[in-house]
Amino acid sequence: HDHIISAKQLSRGDIETVLDHAADIAADPGAFADRHTDTLLGMLFFEPSTRTKMSFTTAMKRLGGDIVDMGSVESSSVKKGESLADTVRVVEGYTDALVLRHPMEGSAKMASEFVDVPLVNAGDGAGQHPTQTLLDLYTIRENAGFDDLTIGIMGDLKYGRTVHSLAHALTTVDASQHFISPESLQLPRSVRYDLHEAGAGVREHTDLGEILPELDVLYVTRIQAERFPDESEYREVAGQYQIDADTLAAAKDDLTVMHPLPRVDEIAHDVDETTHAQYFQQAHNGVPVRMALLDLMLGGDQ
Ligand code: CP
Repeated sequence: HDHIISAKQLSRGDIETVLDHAADIAADPGAFADRHTDTLLGMLFFEPSTRTKMSFTTAMKRLGGDIVDMGSVESSSVKKGESLADTVRVVEGYTDALVLRHPMEGSAKMASEFVDVPLVNAGDGAGQHPTQTLLDLYTIRENAGFDDLTIGIMGDLKYGRTVHSLAHALTTVDASQHFISPESLQLPRSVRYDLHEAGAGVREHTDLGEILPELDVLYVTRIQAERFPDESEYREVAGQYQIDADTLAAAKDDLTVMHPLPRVDEIAHDVDETTHAQYFQQAHNGVPVRMALLDLMLGGDQ
């Protein structure tokens, strides 16, 4: 009953096990429909979510189980001042596993220390989002493969938890990683340190054009206006990190464009109709990947 807190705990072997199982599930989802009929998954979302919450819900239901949802912070006793530690201790008594999203970095690790059921980090502030990483890796493996992979990761690299998780996991497949962002939004020191420790180079660019022709995958993230002290500073940089179909004329024909979503305006809609666009398929991959993870976590051999 291991908790899933960070991409850092996933070895190449762990990743391949989950992705292989997800591929088996995607090929024949009906075969897994009665797998966990008595299982209840506790959903604790202290921050908004569409994809993570709905795909975990879908995954649990497609495995034959069900969810128990705290609902919004506003409608729960968190509103009355109940602590995260007390909340998870209560809800673990109702459920077989917990999924937690919370605005505070480190919250999932802290919460996991109070419970015996497996807890999955569904995003802790600017920290980690390991299940997003698994579906990202599934999408990368399907489209570009892991051999000789060159990937560009662009946007808000400082606060983006999907980036922090993915960058670490990509060191396990020896990907060549390029980080494209304004100087003010470069990778935080802690992630940089972890990448160096893992033997990965941190190649940074402020201009996508410099590296675009070499990329097999371009992973775009949202530049978050709310992070800038001054709106004019935001407007100045944001436009440089938006792509449209014209931008991609300089890319390889088989470049895969990904985005964890939600997007705002960093990928123009004219990219959606190109063969590069994989971000909606990426979001759909969340279901088989989370089914695989839940099945393995909850005892897939039962
Ligand atoms: N990618 C992702 O985590 O989306 P949600 O915030 O909608 O869950």
